[in-house]
Amino acid sequence: MTAPTLPAAELADPAAFDLTDPQTFDDNDPHEMWRPFRAHNPVFWHAPRDGKPGFWVLTKYDDIMAAYRDNKRYTSEQGNVLSTLLLGEDSAAGKMLAVTDGPRHREIRNLMMKSFSPRVLAPVVENVQQLTDRLISEAVEEGEVDFVTAVADRIPIHTIGDLMGIPAGDREQLVDWNAQTLSRYSADDGEEVSLMARNEIILYISGLMAERRRNPGEDVLSTLATATVDGEPLTEEEIIYNAYSLILGGDESSRATASGIVHAFSQYEDQWRRLKNAEVTLESATEEVMRWTTPTMHFGRHALVDIPIRDHVVKAGEIVTLWNSSANFDEDVFADPYTFDLGRTPNKHVSFGHGPHFCLGAYLGRVHMISMLESLRTRVAGIELLAPPTRLFSNFANGHATLKVRLTPQPRP
Ligand code: HEM
Repeated sequence: MTAPTLPAAELADPAAFDLTDPQTFDDNDPHEMWRPFRAHNPVFWHAPRDGKPGFWVLTKYDDIMAAYRDNKRYTSEQGNVLSTLLLGEDSAAGKMLAVTDGPRHREIRNLMMKSFSPRVLAPVVENVQQLTDRLISEAVEEGEVDFVTAVADRIPIHTIGDLMGIPAGDREQLVDWNAQTLSRYSADDGEEVSLMARNEIILYISGLMAERRRNPGEDVLSTLATATVDGEPLTEEEIIYNAYSLILGGDESSRATASGIVHAFSQYEDQWRRLKNAEVTLESATEEVMRWTTPTMHFGRHALVDIPIRDHVVKAGEIVTLWNSSANFDEDVFADPYTFDLGRTPNKHVSFGHGPHFCLGAYLGRVHMISMLESLRTRVAGIELLAPPTRLFSNFANGHATLKVRLTPQPRP
């Protein structure tokens, strides 16, 4: 469906939405929220509120891609998500890949990329496929499940666990801590819960790192713990933060997409049929669910110099936020953006970012989605929503806290 008329200009009122408040994303439909801004106010200043500094908001695909590409005029070293950008600092800056720029970013990224090549990942991929298929089969047997706890929560941590050689018995605990770090499950949990969880993860990795230094294996943590750049080993902080970033980056976004897939199919019977009837490739379906679910709603940067964007000039030192949840529905780039179309082509969504910080785990993320789509297609006949789902309470992660569904089994041929 093409959006027929332009939305009213008064709907693009920056004062109407507090993007720092997770509640805003519970209360508003993202499409209705962003469309008027793209049409009338594509770059705007989000005024300071409640002691938090103001920031620029980019809503158009082209502006967002340009900012992702540009690590000369923008930096990630003072945070790359609103929670850290607003503080003006990230304790992992200059050590963890996502919040490091310049030559050190390239050096650490090159080192870590070796552990992320399809060849090295082959056994990890096989485990993802087997685990996904087993969990979906069990969920189908059960019939009525909360898809988040029964399936989505339980896959990515095992992938990261395999990558880093995390003992199986410790993985559930890591999932719990990680869930508390970024998107707290409900409005009732406080900031301190999130901070404590982050510290627990760092402490845990630090113990594991010491052990890997003594007995290195083939896993990424051992690679980080024993690697050298120009003859120098990485510092302890670099090792711990980069191992942490895999848990951080790999867990929540993949979980969010998995629940998003099932929710989307419960709403769009026609696309479920296309998947079931193999009318679309799993690859093309994967790209569309990545666009449709947009698991990470925003990222951000600090401007290092004055940067003109459209009618505005971003001043050196100011925060700029890039809203993937708007860019992926930009009508200048995607035909019929509000149509969920598994056969969509081209489909150059920004869900994995772009440019120098492009997601290191994109291949793995895609493997998760393909495995999920394949198992759903072969094991499940129908998906029915049993209760209204609840969202993660977050202005960053776009996923579900609960998703109660009935999965009917696919009869054996
Ligand atoms: C970076 C999204 C899965 C590890 C990013 C960025 C995005 C993203 C948008 C760019 C951040 C920026 O520009 O500031 C996603 C989504 C995923 C996913 C939507 C799944 C559906 C994974 C997985 C891993 C991972 C499975 C690892 C196991 C990373 C790392 C970076 C990153 C290390 C930083 C790269 C750099 O700064 O050079 N991710 N990610 N991600 N992601 Fe992912």
